[in-house]
Amino acid sequence: MDDVSRRIYETGVIPVIKLNHPQETAQKLAEVLCCGGLPAAEVTFRAEGASEAIRLMRQARPDLLVGAGTVLSCGQAREAMDAGAQFIVMPGMDEEIVRFCREKGMPVFPGCSSATDYHTAYRLGLEVLKFFPAETLGGLSRIRALAGPFPMFRIMPTGGINLDNLEAYLSDPRIFACGGSYMVKESLIDGGCWDEIRSLCEHSADIVRKVRGEKTCQE
Ligand code: 3PG
Repeated sequence: MDDVSRRIYETGVIPVIKLNHPQETAQKLAEVLCCGGLPAAEVTFRAEGASEAIRLMRQARPDLLVGAGTVLSCGQAREAMDAGAQFIVMPGMDEEIVRFCREKGMPVFPGCSSATDYHTAYRLGLEVLKFFPAETLGGLSRIRALAGPFPMFRIMPTGGINLDNLEAYLSDPRIFACGGSYMVKESLIDGGCWDEIRSLCEHSADIVRKVRGEKTCQE
């Protein structure tokens, strides 16, 4: 297990972020995430300036693990890496992007949601997969069903994760970490609701601690 993946496991919940105004918000958000106990971020390429946001967040808090999300092409993956991204997340399975990232030694987590996707991931030798969109597709029951033929994967569900279902997801040993935007909604960031963001992060980190205690990512 590489160091970045280990840090993702230890954080337990990865905030999925769309930053509309990185110049105004990236630095403050980086600080709030670290102080709130979730020192990791998946900055999505759904907003212009995602790479700028990645750069600013890394500069602001070198202790924050910053990845790129919603990466749809090798060009975006390259742009994210140039900006300092430490991992790449894709909504779907794209072999070309997976290969590109692995050639560069960059941890990559493609979105997988079917036996066909899992089979491709197996062939590519991946260990940790994003599962998206988790709740819409049946959540834990689908993850458990897919683990029948594919018990080798650890899963990062995103899509519909919130404080009501986080504990249930994290309690399943197949779950590596969860991704979610509930603590960093656009309205909270654009409204400068930093105390609320911090409190949602703290609450999430409490759930991670409660479920996992001192477990390490090999267990
Ligand atoms: C993602 O990109 O991983 C998801 O859109 C996050 O889903 P959420 O907004 O339901 O947390």
